[in-house]
Amino acid sequence: MCILMCQLFVPVGCRIFKENELKTYRDRVSAMFHHAYDAYLKYAYPYDELRPLTCDGQDTWGSYSLTLVDALDTLIVMGNTTEFIRIANLLIDKSQDFFDIDINVSVFETNIRVVGGLLSAHLFMKRAGMTLEPGWPCSGPLLRMAETVARKILPAFDTPTGMPYGTVNLRNGVPPGETTITCTAGVGTFLIEFGTLSRLVGDPIFEKVAIKAMRSLWENRSTLGMIGNHVDVATGKWIALDSGIGGGIDSYFEYLVKGSVMFNIPELQEMFRGRS
Ligand SMILES: *[C@@H]1O[C@H](CO)[C@@H](O)[C@H](O)[C@H]1NC(C)=O
Ligand SMILES: *[C@@H]1O[C@H](CO)[C@@H](O)[C@H](O)[C@H]1NC(C)=O
Ligand SMILES: *[C@@H]1O[C@H](CO)[C@@H](O)[C@H](O)[C@H]1NC(C)=O
Repeated sequence: MCILMCQLFVPVGCRIFKENELKTYRDRVSAMFHHAYDAYLKYAYPYDELRPLTCDGQDTWGSYSLTLVDALDTLIVMGNTTEFIRIANLLIDKSQDFFDIDINVSVFETNIRVVGGLLSAHLFMKRAGMTLEPGWPCSGPLLRMAETVARKILPAFDTPTGMPYGTVNLRNGVPPGETTITCTAGVGTFLIEFGTLSRLVGDPIFEKVAIKAMRSLWENRSTLGMIGNHVDVATGKWIALDSGIGGGIDSYFEYLVKGSVMFNIPELQEMFRGRS
């Protein structure tokens, strides 16, 4: 989903590239992408990620060929429609048993990469010239997959604060004894995907839990209006008190801005500005 937003920010006042220069850089980026992508397919697929030194694959976040799902929308951005269609159809063929596995996954990674990857691929089907189901964009096989996996991470949000646990088992919900401590980004990085999903499938639950988690972080801000790095999702108590815009927090701020713009929610803009 990130890619969609970044395209909006055309650099103003930067050096203007000549058309042939642009093509050179464009081709180079595409070559770099295909180098990485082909190596993943050759050495690591169907595992989640490529290990570049040993040239093999490993499952890291979920045993669902994570890199493939994550890279789908980039294929379209690179103009590789044939490969996009091939992979989209491959995922659709496998969709039956794709997420019914006894495995503990990161709620955050599953959302940004899998739910986000499937949703953007679903929305790109038209541009790719694929056959669309009647009712698209509110209907379609990739959308159903996104909804299936999102429903599997939904139990993580069932906490006293509404902030989600960091880990969920795709078959059994939150694992027994799971830690209640998670990072701020892991709490506040759902709205883009969950809001899009809610509006496409017509079920408000996803958008609701995403906003509730963000609001809960905000309600627990310090007297200076600041947000810490790690929080206890059972109590809202800060466990790591350092604040900033780096790892562990960054995408919370990102999603406040994008969420306020995408869904026209001024409250999130206020949270971004940190007014207490
Ligand atoms: C699309 O991707 C496939 C797999 O990497 C590659 O073989 C093919 O040449 C690419 N096509 C274009 C137009 O980039
Ligand atoms: C998931 O985590 C729980 C709690 O730590 C553990 O008991 C269980 O064995 C894990 N399941 C898998 C498939 O790793
Ligand atoms: C966090 O906010 C919630 C909701 O306002 C409140 O019930 C809870 O006591 C707060 N927790 C702490 C540790 O301040």
